[in-house]
Amino acid sequence: MTETIHIGNDALQQLPELLKNRAFSKVAVLVDENTLHHCYPSLKPYLPEHDLIQVQSGEEHKTLQTCEYIWQRMTELHLDRWAVLVNLGGGVIGDMGGFCAAVFKRGIYFVQVPTTLLAQVDASVGGKTGIDFHGLKNHIGVYQEPQAVFINPAFLQTLPQRELKSGYAEIIKHWLIADKEAFLEQRHVGLVAADWDSLIRQSVSIKSRVVEQDPLEGGLRKILNFGHTVGHAVESYLLEQPGRELLHGEAVAVGMLCEAWISRKHELLSPEELDKIETFLVSVYEKVSLSEQDIQQMAQLALQDKKNTRSTINCTLLEGIGNAVYDQPITVQEIVESLRYYTLL
Ligand SMILES: NC(=O)c1ccc[n+]([C@@H]2O[C@H](COP(=O)([O-])OP(=O)(O)OC[C@H]3O[C@@H](n4cnc5c(N)ncnc54)[C@H](O)[C@@H]3O)[C@@H](O)[C@H]2O)c1
Ligand SMILES: [Zn+2]
Repeated sequence: MTETIHIGNDALQQLPELLKNRAFSKVAVLVDENTLHHCYPSLKPYLPEHDLIQVQSGEEHKTLQTCEYIWQRMTELHLDRWAVLVNLGGGVIGDMGGFCAAVFKRGIYFVQVPTTLLAQVDASVGGKTGIDFHGLKNHIGVYQEPQAVFINPAFLQTLPQRELKSGYAEIIKHWLIADKEAFLEQRHVGLVAADWDSLIRQSVSIKSRVVEQDPLEGGLRKILNFGHTVGHAVESYLLEQPGRELLHGEAVAVGMLCEAWISRKHELLSPEELDKIETFLVSVYEKVSLSEQDIQQMAQLALQDKKNTRSTINCTLLEGIGNAVYDQPITVQEIVESLRYYTLL
């Protein structure tokens, strides 16, 4: 069973009841400087007496060092096993707060209040928590379900446009792997006219359905990795190139284009379908310029990233729009070719 998820502009109204019914011994709220400023004022009225734990925003702070600080604050605040941590923020706060709560005194309760689009449609759902370690993404972590998730689309009003677009990539991914109709319809609507409330509901239901069937990623859950084999390689490589860093969703958009091309090459996707995906993604996301050297190194990273055979990588591909197949062997050469195709779009 997945966690209880409340979605809507009134979602937070359910929070006081949960806090009262469970009679938690203490309530602490984890924020970063942005969510403290933009989001905490609208959460505060729904909270009983509580303490704040503030950390710095950004993926570079999703580390063991920050966890140490959080555990130190939890200790000073005398949180015991019946306390609850409310994680107010994007995927960084949710992943790290969830992890800190899951192992503090062998596990205290936590609640997710995601405030970025990416966290609302993806990171807050499915029970994965964790941190980065020595440059390796999400290297340390546990599966742990929160007590509940409260998704209020109103938080998106203060989110920078670039972050919004990044989260939108995961929504597109959900359509491509599971909802052809939504893809065909929404590609004409686009980002500006999007009805976030309904898009979030749709996306969360796709992700929850997949996670419910395969919580520990033995098989089916891997379809959620569509766009991420190449996407992660692109993201990690550019992370090491000052000034060229991409947001997660921006890298996933590149990854989806490449992996759709590979799906076409494997004759799983028709040329018309590839064309539709291409046209839409290129209209939303700016092209990233890549040199032949970038491409070669990204492809090598994709290989290292996985526990695969020497030259093949298991990847999720599309067997038609709205249908994904996982564990499809692809070669490093195909990744190289797909990135070359991307540069020519
Ligand atoms: N657990 C999972 O299943 C899962 C899935 C996908 C991604 N993730 C993780 O999520 C992380 C990325 O999450 P993200 O994209 O939310 O990034 P993020 O958490 O870094 O947030 C992006 C920025 O937006 C700011 N912010 C947050 N809410 C805001 C608001 N309402 N108004 C203004 N600013 C706001 C944050 O302070 C931050 O600067 C990565 O670490 C990734 O590994 C986890
Ligand atoms: Zn992702």
